[in-house]
Amino acid sequence: MKTILVTGGAGYIGSHTLILLIEAGYNVVVFDNFSNSSIESVRRVEKIVDRAIEVVEGDIRSREDLDRVFKRYKIDAVIHFAGLKAVGESVSEPIKYYENNVYGTINLCKVMSENGCKSIVFSSSATVYGNPASNPIREDFPTGATNPYGRSKLFIEEILRDIFISDNSWRIVILRYFNPVGAYKSGVIGEDPADIPNNLMPFISQTAIGKREYLSVFGDDYDTHDGTGVRDYIHVMDLADGHVKALDKIDSFNRVMTINLGTGKGYSVLDMVKAFERASGVKIPYKIAPRRAGDIATCYADPSYAREILGWEAKRGIEEMCEDSWRWQSNNPNGYR
Ligand code: NAD
Ligand code: UD1
Repeated sequence: MKTILVTGGAGYIGSHTLILLIEAGYNVVVFDNFSNSSIESVRRVEKIVDRAIEVVEGDIRSREDLDRVFKRYKIDAVIHFAGLKAVGESVSEPIKYYENNVYGTINLCKVMSENGCKSIVFSSSATVYGNPASNPIREDFPTGATNPYGRSKLFIEEILRDIFISDNSWRIVILRYFNPVGAYKSGVIGEDPADIPNNLMPFISQTAIGKREYLSVFGDDYDTHDGTGVRDYIHVMDLADGHVKALDKIDSFNRVMTINLGTGKGYSVLDMVKAFERASGVKIPYKIAPRRAGDIATCYADPSYAREILGWEAKRGIEEMCEDSWRWQSNNPNGYR
């Protein structure tokens, strides 16, 4: 049985992935500094899978913290979710983002290598495509980020490729996520933004339960079917499944694999509002607001490479994404608090 170190395992995507990893027969060790999460998510996953989960509180920027884990457990591979992800904050505090995301990843790779563990699945983002010339987006499209968060992902991707060039016994999978939404079916775990949400789905669901008065729709004059921004929303459990499939195959990869995880379908802000209203039975008040700086009109994946290489495809549609987000939000109006 392989043991997987899950950095950022208490976070939104990490906690959902734990369930499928355990169901697939992997041993997991969670490594998290809880800067954007709480132990409660892992405790709830323990109830779902009916088993105790090893948790180490530590920081990827600390060699000592990481070394402690690698000495204590025989880690076969790492899924590296740990990172900061707020775009606006990355613009005002770039050093924090480069230190946490880039330096933290370098540190992790160094300690992995010293301990003979050279398999890593890394959380990248569709944000590395910048403003794509066309859609759907293939993995070989040009990259170019527009903010420090996106650049931290691009730098890490390049660093991982250089590590492989220097030592091709590494096994590296870079997963570029489109827009993760939704929650585990039972509604006991989900996305729990610490502050005012940045992303659309948590904003819609907080508006639905009355925590926010209305949703601001950022721009209705884009060149899209209804003028609002179009994105590729992907259910977090489909995303989690992509990680398990990547791990199952990782030993067979002899080059760095860079793979989109998206559905291939684009939905507008207003499409999502309507889908959420149908799923929840609640009216979502909204107002049209100016465009948000740095936003693009349309972004959706060509997911065919993931199908070819991993045998993976997204199965859940936007109705299920909205139903599951709503169940989590309405059962847990204050998240894990
Ligand atoms: P999240 O904030 O819920 O989870 C990240 C976890 O990493 C948190 O539990 C946090 O406490 C932990 N962490 C942060 N810095 C750390 C450090 N220095 N040491 C140890 N732990 C640390 O975010 P998420 O949505 O689950 O995202 C997971 C990964 O996927 C991130 O790398 C993110 O950039 C990437 N990603 C997310 C999205 C999205 O929309 N959610 C999209 C594309 C890519
Ligand atoms: C944002 C980030 C991106 C990150 C991604 C997933 C920016 C500029 N980009 O992308 O780097 O990888 O999240 O974490 O922040 N919207 C509203 N009202 C809201 C919130 C969003 O109308 O209150 C619209 C946006 O304009 C966009 C769509 O909803 O058209 C989706 O927004 P969001 O969930 O923030 O995702 P991205 O814009 O794709």
